[in-house]
Amino acid sequence: MMSLCSWMLIPLKLFLPAIIAVLLILIVGLPSLIIASRYYCRKKRESLSKDGVLHVGFFHPYCNAGGGGERVLWCAIKALQVRHTHVKIVVYTGDLDASPEEILKRAEKRFNIKLIDPIQFVYLRRRRWVEADMYPYFTLLGQSLGSIVLGTEALTAFIPDLYVDTMGYAFTLPLFKFVGGCNVACYVHYPTITGDMLRRVSGHVIAHNNRPYVARSPFLTAGKLLYYRLFAWLYGWVGRCSDMVMVNSSWTEDHINELWLCSLKTHRVYPPCDVEDMKKLLLSSENSKSQNGAEQQASLKSKTDSKKARNLIKIVSVGQFRPEKDHPLQLRAMYELRQLVPENVWDNIMLVFVGSCRNREDQDRIKDMQDLCKHLSLENNVQFKVNVSYDELKKELQEGTIGLHAMWNEHFGIGVVECMAAGLIMVAHRSGGPLMDIIMESEGSRNGFLAEDETEYAQAIATILKLSSQTRKQIQDAARASVDRFSVEEFEKGFLRAMDPFFRTHSET
Ligand SMILES: *[C@@H]1O[C@H](CO)[C@@H](O)[C@H](O)[C@H]1NC(C)=O
Ligand SMILES: *[C@@H]1O[C@H](CO)[C@@H](O)[C@H](O)[C@H]1NC(C)=O
Repeated sequence: MMSLCSWMLIPLKLFLPAIIAVLLILIVGLPSLIIASRYYCRKKRESLSKDGVLHVGFFHPYCNAGGGGERVLWCAIKALQVRHTHVKIVVYTGDLDASPEEILKRAEKRFNIKLIDPIQFVYLRRRRWVEADMYPYFTLLGQSLGSIVLGTEALTAFIPDLYVDTMGYAFTLPLFKFVGGCNVACYVHYPTITGDMLRRVSGHVIAHNNRPYVARSPFLTAGKLLYYRLFAWLYGWVGRCSDMVMVNSSWTEDHINELWLCSLKTHRVYPPCDVEDMKKLLLSSENSKSQNGAEQQASLKSKTDSKKARNLIKIVSVGQFRPEKDHPLQLRAMYELRQLVPENVWDNIMLVFVGSCRNREDQDRIKDMQDLCKHLSLENNVQFKVNVSYDELKKELQEGTIGLHAMWNEHFGIGVVECMAAGLIMVAHRSGGPLMDIIMESEGSRNGFLAEDETEYAQAIATILKLSSQTRKQIQDAARASVDRFSVEEFEKGFLRAMDPFFRTHSET
């Protein structure tokens, strides 16, 4: 017995100094390192800020991607430049292959946004560190720690007065706040982890973030749950470091509030959508009233044809041929609709699917849907328009009366907004963004319809068909007015209002 005890004591004696050393480094070394770099950063920033110039750094490692997130970035920068003359903008980017001129030119071409003052780019070489394929396991944590590495590179390259993360790298916020001593803000498109993800793991649900073997094993599930809980707690803590938070939708807002617990400094600022172009389209009712000469001549030539065309009621459904867009539900709704409307009306109803087809699977899906059409004997009332140009899409929207959207729990639904801007009366799925942000059904302010299953969809369509043209016009006008909430001007207003406190305190000092 004695000897066993002493055997165990020897390693303890050996390791004790090592453990104490590590603890000392953690308790003394790390804080003093932070204090020292904080001091250094302050000195550096003071030497930079002359004549009351305020440096705003936007962290957007993929700023040349040309997606919705980038539209937010460039719109935000332009709004700041127009409003505040004393700001200098810096963008941290990892797009090493693009020169500043190329990036700005792309933004101008893609989004039609031309900045009024020059901006500075800081190129980051460590973008690999935030890419998902670097971390086959513990991806969330890996990417987040990687973003600290990337953030450190950014901070050493340039220290701004105000740091804005526009790509959701929340773990960089405490870095810039505590080490860099900056004011920090962020714009969140999508939470890194959500309460739903936690619930899926604890409920043993198989999903893209929960592999089958994990879902089946209680041991692995418990481990994973612990990891997710820990990560969610960390994510909440780093998020709360932000002095101000912007979120892009009610959906994101709900999830961020659940984890970050700082709803008082959280602002909902919808991203800028390009609704202007769609709003230029005439309403189809206005259009048929004011037919121009050329069209009248054409209608003389083929009188019967145009007569048919005029009575045609087009229902337009815009969306890629992806499974989650739920085209079968829309077909079943058409089948139900047939029982609800008189034969002569039915003959004039045409459902048009407009969408792009990306690959083989999409093609197979279209084929399946055409078969389903035959099966439900809808083939004379359904059309497929695959891979059409933007102009053709606009033509379809122009001719359409009703718009259809069937995706469950879509986070927002920009397609729904565009259809409403174009003057269609929307029937959208009663969930997600359409329910929370876009469609209002209360009498007096109705701007569209919501539905959940084929019966409800069919009833909504039948109701719309029966509306007087006056009521129809009212809904269309309400819809067009309501989408202004998602316009560029509204984004600029909301963004500047949320950012205002930073500029006020700065001009006072
Ligand atoms: C917010 O961002 C997410 C992720 O990019 C996107 O799915 C959603 O549609 C966005 N919401 C709005 C209102 O654009
Ligand atoms: C649509 O475009 C995609 C790629 O752009 C192509 O792969 C597909 O074959 C096209 N489909 C049709 C029906 O034209």
